[in-house]
Amino acid sequence: MGLASSLRFRRRNNKTFLRIFMILVLSCIPGRTNLCSNHSVSTPTDLPPSNHPHIYSSLDSLDLEGYISFNDVHIAAKDFGNRYHSPPLAVLHPRSVSDISSVMKHILHLGSTSNLTVAARGHGHSLQGQALAHQGVVISMESLRSPDIKIYKGKHQQPYVDVSGGELWINILRETLKHGLSPKSWTDYLHLTVGGTLSNAGISGQAFKYGPQINNVYQLEIVTGKGEVVTCSEKQNSELFYSVLGGLGQFGIITRARIALGPAPLMVKWIRVLYSDFSAFSRDQEHLISKENAFDYVEGFVIINRTNLLNSWRSSFSPNDTTEASQFKSDGKTLYCLEVAKYFNQEEANSINQETEKLLSELSYIPSTLFSSEVPYIDFLDRVHIAEIKLRAKGLWEVPHPWLNLLIPKSRIFDFATEVFNNILTSNNNGPILIYPVNQSKWNKRTSMITPNEDIFYLVAFLPSAVPNSSGKNDLEYLLKQNQRVLSFCEAANINVKQYLPHYETQKEWRSHFGSRWETFAKRKHAYDPLAILAPGQRIFQKATHLSPIQLL
Ligand SMILES: Cc1cc2nc3c(=O)[nH]c(=O)nc-3n(C[C@H](O)[C@H](O)[C@H](O)COP(=O)(O)OP(=O)(O)OC[C@H]3O[C@@H](n4cnc5c(N)ncnc54)[C@H](O)[C@@H]3O)c2cc1C
Ligand SMILES: *[C@@H]1O[C@H](CO)[C@@H](O)[C@H](O)[C@H]1NC(C)=O
Ligand SMILES: *[C@@H]1O[C@H](CO)[C@@H](O)[C@H](O)[C@H]1NC(C)=O
Ligand SMILES: *[C@@H]1O[C@H](CO)[C@@H](O)[C@H](O)[C@H]1NC(C)=O
Ligand SMILES: *[C@@H]1O[C@H](CO)[C@@H](O)[C@H](O)[C@H]1NC(C)=O
Ligand SMILES: *[C@@H]1O[C@H](CO)[C@@H](O)[C@H](O)[C@H]1NC(C)=O
Ligand SMILES: *[C@@H]1O[C@H](CO)[C@@H](O)[C@H](O)[C@H]1NC(C)=O
Repeated sequence: MGLASSLRFRRRNNKTFLRIFMILVLSCIPGRTNLCSNHSVSTPTDLPPSNHPHIYSSLDSLDLEGYISFNDVHIAAKDFGNRYHSPPLAVLHPRSVSDISSVMKHILHLGSTSNLTVAARGHGHSLQGQALAHQGVVISMESLRSPDIKIYKGKHQQPYVDVSGGELWINILRETLKHGLSPKSWTDYLHLTVGGTLSNAGISGQAFKYGPQINNVYQLEIVTGKGEVVTCSEKQNSELFYSVLGGLGQFGIITRARIALGPAPLMVKWIRVLYSDFSAFSRDQEHLISKENAFDYVEGFVIINRTNLLNSWRSSFSPNDTTEASQFKSDGKTLYCLEVAKYFNQEEANSINQETEKLLSELSYIPSTLFSSEVPYIDFLDRVHIAEIKLRAKGLWEVPHPWLNLLIPKSRIFDFATEVFNNILTSNNNGPILIYPVNQSKWNKRTSMITPNEDIFYLVAFLPSAVPNSSGKNDLEYLLKQNQRVLSFCEAANINVKQYLPHYETQKEWRSHFGSRWETFAKRKHAYDPLAILAPGQRIFQKATHLSPIQLL
């Protein structure tokens, strides 16, 4: 049923209409595939001019502390994935929370006379246009960064830091380290914003222990889709709090966040060991995440073809291991690399080797393949940035990134690995393939994030770059087909996988992604963003343009 039939229905029965309308509009996937239906970077040209000139002047005349610009829309037209391209009408550079609230209220007030949608843009490191707003308003969240990051050390309470939603995690780390403190849960890469990762989950090698980043937030300040500024936490407006965490930007804009801190270590013992047997590898990973006081970080990756061990952008391990690794002989078999880290301070410098040796003695990796190094905590956490600098220098950073992130229930990880790593993938495809388990019984289940329904599941991340190969051809199409083969296999083998950083084209797929939680998600959307103005690039809901605002009915 489309909007036309719902409109006809409305004339007959207003009250029933209200209920049905909610279901219809909120379950509607944008019919306009203008937002980047094409896998190549291109500007859609087949669209009606979506907004009248008065929209420009009305936006322009808003009284703001920051400003709105119409001539720098190209900065918000694409993302890290570099496959989707769609310029907004305007970019808001907010100086204050009330700037964001004013713009939201203004757009709400314009109602059906405009097609304007709003997307918060963190660092624009999405992969499939999630932070774009076709002919809408993009809010440059980094403009909201405040120079002083406030740290509360707390005598009776856990320490925390209050930050802007547009703050980069790397800056938070630098600031908290000055006080000997640090956030507990991370992403592999720190040049991402708080609002961006909290809208997804924020998963890395610490998540087995502390849960994802959305598990380590005490309080949020949100501008809802209705323009209201709301403070929320586990105790206060908790429904909004948990909606927004992992909520794909659908319910409000995170303007401030209170992030949990713990003591920061000085140094990190960083270890890699190799396996040729997947069962042994995953058994050891699962063993390590089940142990209290074992390693502080547990990840792993797949090496399909040994030659790529040295080329992989994430393998900037230490200057020394390159030589060691190149001396390691394998017969071209698929290898699995377990990557673990143990944090330590000066006073533990002597005991750290003993401690890690004991932990390693419980594992069954190939003995000659131990690579270890000791690095400062900040260098360890910021490791991917070093690779970024190198790739940028070679022009290999701003290329298409057809990434695929999957969450796979433990009961099927062996089936998945057997087929995907041996039969579907034939090389590492110019990028790492991460794989590690987490125990989600330690995760808060009230957030909007969708996970498989087993306590233990694996994050498997295919992170290729589509670069021109030696014959000058770009392998993007090939990589996309490969992703599709992986997904098709999961479906055929009936593996209950969930996408992380999900991206879907159809309503059926989004509903199946959310499963039994779809109704709640849609109900919350209606409560906090009734016109579906926010984060259109996720393509879950379409803005209700032709109808009067729901809350007035
Ligand atoms: C090199 C690299 C490494 C990565 N590694 C990891 C990893 O280890 N673990 C992991 O979990 N993820 C990882 N990611 C994924 C990353 O967490 C997401 O892509 C994230 O969305 C990027 O943050 P951003 O600030 O650039 O957000 P954007 O791409 O700008 O935004 C993402 C979504 O959130 C919305 N949004 C942004 N800011 C706000 C806000 N303040 N309030 C409400 N909604 C908002 C946007 O509208 C959009 O829908 C990685 C990405 C890259 C590029
Ligand atoms: C993408 O768009 C370009 C330019 O409009 C077109 O030539 C190409 O065929 C499209 N590709 C796909 C896969 O739709
Ligand atoms: C909104 O978009 C629709 C098509 O997507 C178009 O028919 C309508 O005229 C647009 N409204 C405005 C005010 O631009
Ligand atoms: C997962 O965590 C729960 C709660 O801490 C624990 O009871 C369970 O044994 C853990 N499972 C594994 C396999 O480690
Ligand atoms: C590994 O890659 C090299 C170069 O790309 C190729 O020649 C070789 O056949 C590959 N080996 C396997 C086992 O796939
Ligand atoms: C790395 O190599 C350098 C020089 O060869 C050496 O001085 C240093 O101790 C090595 N570091 C590690 C961690 O092995
Ligand atoms: C380069 O990529 C194209 C397109 O995927 C492919 O057909 C071709 O075989 C590749 N060439 C080499 C040398 O890998």
